[in-house]
Amino acid sequence: MSSMKHIDNIPSTPGKFKEKSSYNRLRLHFSIAKLTFWSFVFLGLIFVCFFRSPSSSSSPASSDLSRRSLRTSSYDGPAWEKRIKASAKIRSRNGISVLVTGAAGFVGTHVSSALKRRGDGVVGLDNFNDYYDPSLKRARQTLLEGAGVYIVEGDINDVTLLKKLFDVVQFNHVMHLAAQAGVRYAMENPSSYVHSNIAGLVNLLEFCKNANPQPSIVWASSSSVYGLNTKVPFSESDRTDQPASLYAATKKAGEEIAHTYNHIYGLSLTGLRFFTVYGPWGRPDMAYFFFTRDILKGKSISIFEGANHGTVARDFTYIDDIVKGCLGALDTAEKSTGSGGKKKGPAQLRVFNLGNTSPVPVSDLVTILERLLKVKAKRALMKLPRNGDVQFTHANISFAQRELGYKPTTYLQTGLKKFVRWYLSYYVDGKKSAQ
Ligand SMILES: NC(=O)c1ccc[n+]([C@@H]2O[C@H](COP(=O)([O-])OP(=O)(O)OC[C@H]3O[C@@H](n4cnc5c(N)ncnc54)[C@H](O)[C@@H]3O)[C@@H](O)[C@H]2O)c1
Ligand SMILES: *[C@@H]1O[C@H](CO)[C@@H](O)[C@H](O)[C@H]1NC(C)=O
Repeated sequence: MSSMKHIDNIPSTPGKFKEKSSYNRLRLHFSIAKLTFWSFVFLGLIFVCFFRSPSSSSSPASSDLSRRSLRTSSYDGPAWEKRIKASAKIRSRNGISVLVTGAAGFVGTHVSSALKRRGDGVVGLDNFNDYYDPSLKRARQTLLEGAGVYIVEGDINDVTLLKKLFDVVQFNHVMHLAAQAGVRYAMENPSSYVHSNIAGLVNLLEFCKNANPQPSIVWASSSSVYGLNTKVPFSESDRTDQPASLYAATKKAGEEIAHTYNHIYGLSLTGLRFFTVYGPWGRPDMAYFFFTRDILKGKSISIFEGANHGTVARDFTYIDDIVKGCLGALDTAEKSTGSGGKKKGPAQLRVFNLGNTSPVPVSDLVTILERLLKVKAKRALMKLPRNGDVQFTHANISFAQRELGYKPTTYLQTGLKKFVRWYLSYYVDGKKSAQ
C-alpha cells in the first residue's frame, strides 16, 4: 500500500490545501459530506484512468503516467535539505532563487544551467517519467549536477513534497516547465495531460499563492494554443479557442487557470508560447530528432503535407534563443502582490510568443539534415493527419521583443549543425542507443 501513497497527494478537494483554519462543527459536517462525495468522484476517476487507458500494451511509451508516478520519491532528512539549500544558494548580486520544474527535460536543463551560470540559485524538480527514454533525462541530470544544480525527484502533484520544498527554500521565482508534451500521444494517454498540465499546474499554483512572500511564476504554454487559427503571423491577441489537440486544450486551460490565480490571489504570472524548440539535448519525440535517427539508420521518414500538397512548415526556434526569452521573462517579472493566500492588489499577467519568425517547410528541414549527416533520406510523403498537428506556425514576436528584449538570432542551419554535432557525440561516439 505504501506505493499508493501518492494518490492521497493528488489534490482532490481545494480544502486539502487549507493550512490552519478552524472549522465550526456545522462546517465540519459539511466538509465530511463534501469529502465523502469528492472521494467517490475521485475513486471513480482513478478507476477510469486505470482501466480505460492502454497501460500495458505494445508501445513502451503507452504505459500509464499515473502508474509511473507511483514511485515514491526519496526526500526528507537533513542531508536532503542541505543539498537543496546549497543548490538554491544565490551567488551573484541581484541574483534570484528559482524553482525549475521539468528541470530534467529539454528546455528545463538549458534554462537551469543558464541561471546557475549567471549566479542564480536553482532547484530542479522532475518526476523522470518515461514518456521518452528516461536515460536521456538522467544524462541531463548528471550534466546539471556537475554545474551545481540539484534536481529533486518527484511529481508536481505531490503535496507533501512541495510543502517540504517550499518550507526549505523561499523561492523568488518559479520557472514551470514540467508538462506532458506531445500532440499525438494525447490520444494514447489523455489522463497524463490532465495529470501534469492541469492538476499539476493547479497544485503548484496553490503552493505559490500560499507562500509568503509569493514567488513570481513564468511557465511554458505553447504555440499549439493557436490551433485552427489561420491568420499569420500568430499574435498574442489572436483567438485561441479552437485547439486542435488535447495537448493544446490543456495549455489553453493553463492560460485560463493562470488568469484565475492572478485575479484571485495576486500572483504574478507570465505564460510563454514556445514555437517548436530544437537543439542539443532535445526531445526524441520531435521530428528533427527522430528524422536524424531514422536517416542515419537508413529508415524511411514520413514527411507530412497539407491538403492539395500544401507545405507543412514550422517556426523552428533554437534552444539558446528560447533560454534568453525565459531569462528575459524572469528578469522583467514583477513581484506577486498577495500574501498568506490573500490578494493585496493587482498583479502582472502576461503572455508572450517565443518563436523565430521564420517558418521553414519540413522538407527543407530534411534537406538540411541530409547535408549535415551526409546521408540521403528516404522520404515518404504522407497526408497530415487531422489529429492534432496544424499545417503552419509562425510567431509574431514583436511583443516579446519590446517587453523582454527577446531577439532570436539562430538560423535553422546553424542550430541544426549544433544539434547534429551533439547527436553524433551522444549517440554515435557515446554508443547510447537511440530508441
Ligand atoms: N519543446 C518544444 O518545442 C515545446 C513547444 C511548446 C511548448 N513546450 C512546453 O515547454 C515545456 C518544456 O518542454 P520540453 O520540450 O523541455 O519537454 P520535456 O518533456 O523534455 O520536459 C518536461 C519535463 O517535465 C517532467 N514532468 C512531466 N510531468 C511531470 C510531473 N507531473 N511532475 C514532475 N515532472 C514532470 C518530465 O519528466 C520532463 O523531464 C513543457 O511545458 C512543454 O509543454 C515545449
Ligand atoms: C504583431 O503584434 C503586435 C502586438 O504586439 C501588433 O501590434 C502587430 O500588428 C502584429 N503584427 C502583425 C503583422 O500581425
